[in-house]
Amino acid sequence: MTRQAPGPKGEPVLGNARAFQADILQALQRGRREYGDVVRFEGIGPLFPVFFVGHPDGIKEILQDKHRNFPKTPFVSDRWRALVGDGLICSEGELWKRQRRLCQPAFHRRLITSFATGMTEVTAELLDRWEAAARAHREVDVTLDMTRLALSVLGGALFGANWRQDSEVMAHAVEVAIGEAYKKFGKFVSLPEGVPTPANLRFARARKQLDRIIYRVIEDRRADRGPHPDDLLEALMTATEDDGSGMTVEQVRNEVMTFMFGGHETVASGLTWALYLLSRHPEVAARLEAEVDEVLGGRLPGVEDLPRLPYVDRVVRESLRLYPPVSLISRTPLEDDTVQGYDIPKGSMVLLSSFVTHRHPDFWPNPEGFDPDRWIPLGEQGPHRYAWWPFSGGPRKCIGDVFGLQEMKLVLAMMAQRVRVRLAPGHPVIPRPGITLGQEHGVIATVALREKAPPAAPRALAGADSEAIAAAAAAAGCPVHGGGAR
Ligand code: HEM
Repeated sequence: MTRQAPGPKGEPVLGNARAFQADILQALQRGRREYGDVVRFEGIGPLFPVFFVGHPDGIKEILQDKHRNFPKTPFVSDRWRALVGDGLICSEGELWKRQRRLCQPAFHRRLITSFATGMTEVTAELLDRWEAAARAHREVDVTLDMTRLALSVLGGALFGANWRQDSEVMAHAVEVAIGEAYKKFGKFVSLPEGVPTPANLRFARARKQLDRIIYRVIEDRRADRGPHPDDLLEALMTATEDDGSGMTVEQVRNEVMTFMFGGHETVASGLTWALYLLSRHPEVAARLEAEVDEVLGGRLPGVEDLPRLPYVDRVVRESLRLYPPVSLISRTPLEDDTVQGYDIPKGSMVLLSSFVTHRHPDFWPNPEGFDPDRWIPLGEQGPHRYAWWPFSGGPRKCIGDVFGLQEMKLVLAMMAQRVRVRLAPGHPVIPRPGITLGQEHGVIATVALREKAPPAAPRALAGADSEAIAAAAAAAGCPVHGGGAR
């Protein structure tokens, strides 16, 4: 027997539309608290009623068990498509399946591990600038600096030396394009791209500029007889199916754009929130510093160090719990279906929020508390596979989870070695959901320099070391999922 999900009626005529517009995450959170794990929100406009599913069992049903009937919501995918064409993030069906297979080699652990040097180099450069800011008593814009850091890391991983050559122009075009895309994503309705509004024109110009550079880099690479660099672009250009076919130039461009946009704001958001939480919890920051000092001394971390930095791992995991960068996703069933016994009519918008589920009191005691040690008894799996799902799950789970976690851990370990971030007094930090979970006014902070760390404790025995290296890839990866598409 199925039932209609309960939910708030909201205001007369408008229903819940204004509550969604004002603060959608709080509206969903309230809905779950007051009505339970499947909520039906009435409202005005073509998207309502909107369903919300907050229980890990329901999320598993949608993302994993019934994923074929729950593709991504078309109007959300269309907005991505304006930016990345038929890239992995918004394609469906056979095209998605083939592209996912062809993209998989780009996320091979060996390749991701090789990006660690780029990650630590970019971080060291930023830390030099932050040290100068600290000496000059200047504030730093953590949100902006993390965004630029993550873009630089991704640009290097995608294009190797070609990125260094074009980084300023490309970074600027990415910033403009994503800024405009943000505005579009923020609105339920926006004017079609063909209408020459100033915003549409800015967006089109930035996309054209990016296209010009990306197509040129691809063409140069094709014309060059080698040797070619070991980067994401090369992996995309050389990937083949069993029948020997690969991607067209346009498909390579689409996936490059997808990684560029899917893979830097997410990491930047995760890092910004982690630094914010550390600034609010000096006792956690102190333990993080103690661990990196003991294990690394003053030297740079590598992927092989990560298994010996369990506190770094717990801090990352716990901050992704409280502030998951992709805090809201949606699906739309092709046919009438049920979730946890409640009717979900075909064509409806179904929202899933890691931000809300990561605070579900049945799975997370003291849900709002920042407590990295809660992970000690839980282990990597957490209390339920879908109680912690910052990288989503099922076949459409994030392809860049290993990349993202590795970067977050290396960057945070290096920051803990050299600086302590202190939130600027009186600066409000309010979550703002967009493509990723940002902050209403960014995160502005001062930087305090740390004393130089003592030399590292002697490394573990040689045998244990090689075991650690063998275990490193696993520890750097998404703790919940394996590597490949399912
Ligand atoms: C902390 C960092 C990251 C987080 C939290 C994150 C989160 C997510 C989530 C939740 C999804 C699923 C969206 C949905 O189902 O609607 C996703 C998909 C995706 N992510 Fe990530 N991501 C991160 C880093 C990255 C990186 C570094 C890359 C690439 C370099 C990347 C590329 C992608 C792609 C291509 C997809 C679409 C996969 C598909 O549909 O087959 N992500 N990500």
